[in-house]
This record gives sequence, structure tokens and C-alpha cells, in this order.
Amino acid sequence: MKDLIDKLYYEHNLSRDELLLLIENRNKGLSDYLFEKARQVRIQYYGHDVYMRGLIEFTNYCKNDCYYCGIRRSNSNADRYRLDKKQILNCCDTGYDLGFRTFVLQGGEDNYYKDEIIADIVSTIKAKYPDCAVTLSIGEKSYESYKMFFDSGADRYLLRHETANYIHYSKLHPSNLSLESRKQCLYNLKEIGYQVGCGFMVGSPYQATDCIVEDLLFIKNLTPHMIGIGPFIPHKDTPFADKTAGTLELTLFLIGIIRLMLPNALIPATTALGTIHPKGRELGILSGANVVMPNLSPTEVREKYLLYDNKICTGDEAAECRICLQNRIESIGYKLVVSRGDCVPI
Ligand code: SAM
Ligand code: FES
Repeated sequence: MKDLIDKLYYEHNLSRDELLLLIENRNKGLSDYLFEKARQVRIQYYGHDVYMRGLIEFTNYCKNDCYYCGIRRSNSNADRYRLDKKQILNCCDTGYDLGFRTFVLQGGEDNYYKDEIIADIVSTIKAKYPDCAVTLSIGEKSYESYKMFFDSGADRYLLRHETANYIHYSKLHPSNLSLESRKQCLYNLKEIGYQVGCGFMVGSPYQATDCIVEDLLFIKNLTPHMIGIGPFIPHKDTPFADKTAGTLELTLFLIGIIRLMLPNALIPATTALGTIHPKGRELGILSGANVVMPNLSPTEVREKYLLYDNKICTGDEAAECRICLQNRIESIGYKLVVSRGDCVPI
């Protein structure tokens, strides 16, 4: 199996069958070998730098009803909130002082925020902080809306494809949502000129290894700038409340594979990874990840943006999270840097 990792290391590509074989035959020794190679590649492109993104979860209203998600429309136990422009800008002010040079505006699909409102918020942030990147993560929108946000200054867009397998997609989402439209959004974002991020949950219900292989092939084909993967974690008020969470072990293995497939990609060690294991984010970095996304949302709303149970850092101030992460990253010999953290050329 090590020969497959070597092939991935040199060629950045494996066939469907090879990927399947590699994932299904993974073990501790193989993982260690993969992580060593992934770190080599990551250090070649990014040294020991870890980029940080300040996550601003500005609304937990959502018109969608994804079966896995704690803020889905049908969850009547969710305590809904919205941040206004002033509150969002306050988050950016705090974040800028803490060294953040990327702000990620994330939320449910909330039609309260008309396109003009989003565009206005983006352009205000960009005017105030021209040295910062603005990332949007607000779901599926029309080509025209994406274009308007881009023209107002948005640099990046995160839209996880969730799964590249059509049958699997239909088991995670109600029938009004389709993989076709999700993919089309990603192609549109790319065409418009965004730095694009896709991704999926590891261990989501009904995910077979075949689905993961399709995910990897889809990602290779799309060649996004960013790939966000994290374990699925059940939320008590969703149809998947009783499903099993994804594992640390498989998530790390896939981070390693993705690092070798797309050597210069931006790969976050996600909050979900930090939720299923106390050292999850550190282990993510050691498996090839190079980004962390601490929370900049006001403390009073953090507990309300619960996508899954037991989410970490919901009681902390932004400054506490920043220091905590810095210590964690330094403890493994890496460093948090003050930078926009763009993708380096290959
Ligand atoms: N509404 C936007 C969208 O659809 O892209 C952004 C917000 S959405 C909550 C962000 C991501 O959270 C999703 O793409 C999904 O992968 C992840 N997520 C949702 N529920 C989750 C769960 N139970 N466990 C782990 N990740 C989850
Ligand atoms: Fe919309 Fe989760 S269902 S953000």
C-alpha cells in the first residue's frame, strides 16, 4: 500500500480503484507514512505557517432542511438570531486587532439578507480593511447574486459539496435540494473568479467508501483552492440524532490524501475535528492541514449556532480562542501567522 502513497506523492493522482484500495486497507503504519509525506508537501509549500480565518456566524435562520444540520428549518428548538451590519463590523474590528486578515461570513440560507445587504456588508468591510480577504459561506445563490457579491469585493466562497454521490446526496437532503445544483454553484463561483472551497462531512450517514472515493475524484477534478472536511457529528434535534459520528482516524487519513492530491490547497483543521477529540485540530495540522477557523461571533450568540452537539469554544471570547489556538499550534512546532493566507501557486 505504501507504493500507492508514493504514487500519490509524486503524481498527485490515483485511480478510483487505487483510492478505494488505499482507504479500505489503511492501518496505523500506513497512516503514519501518509502523514509524514503529507507534512513534507505541506512544509514545502507553506513552511510551518498556519493561516487563521475569523468565522462570523451571522445568522442561524435557514430555509433549508438538511437532515444532518442543527439549524435546519424544522428544528423548532433552535433559538434563532441575526447579526446586523454594525454587529458584524464589530466582530471584524475585534478580529483585526487580534491579527485576523480573513473574515468568513457564514450563515444559514436566510432570505432576510437580500443580495444588496450582503453586498453592502462586504464592501464596507473591504473599504475599512483593504488588506483583508472576505469569504462568504451562505449557501446556494444564483449566478447573478454570486457576481454581485464578487463585484462588491468578496474574495472567496465556501460551499461544501457535501457528497459527490447522487444517491447519497438524496439521503442527506430533502428532494428540493440537488447535487446538480450544488455542483453548478461551485462551477459558477469558479467562473466568476472566486477562490472556491468545497468539502464534505466524514462519516455522514449512509456514506460508503465508494462515496468518499467519488468525493476525492470530484475534488481533484474541480481543483478548488480550499477543501473543508470534518467529521459528521449528530445533533439531538435532527433526523440523524441517533446516527454515529464520523471518526478522527478516517478524517485525518483523508486530510493526508487530499494534501497529496492537491499539494498547495488550503485545508482547515475544523472545529468539528476539535469537537470529537481534544487534540483534533493539532492532529489535523500534523496530517497535512494548514488553516484554522476560530470563532469571532459575539459570545452571546455562539451557543445558538449549533450545527451538531457539544460544539467546542461556544463560551469563549474571541481573544481567548485566539490565544488558546496559538498555544495549541505552537505546542506542535507550527506558528499562527498574521496574513490573508492566500493559496500559494503550485
Ligand atoms: N448554509 C451554508 C451552506 O449550506 O453552505 C453554510 C452553513 S452550513 C451549516 C456549513 C457546513 O456545516 C455544511 O456545509 C456542513 O458540511 C456542516 N455541517 C452541518 N451539520 C453538520 C453536522 N451535524 N456535523 C458536522 N458538520 C455539519
Ligand atoms: Fe441550512 Fe444547515 S440546513 S445551514
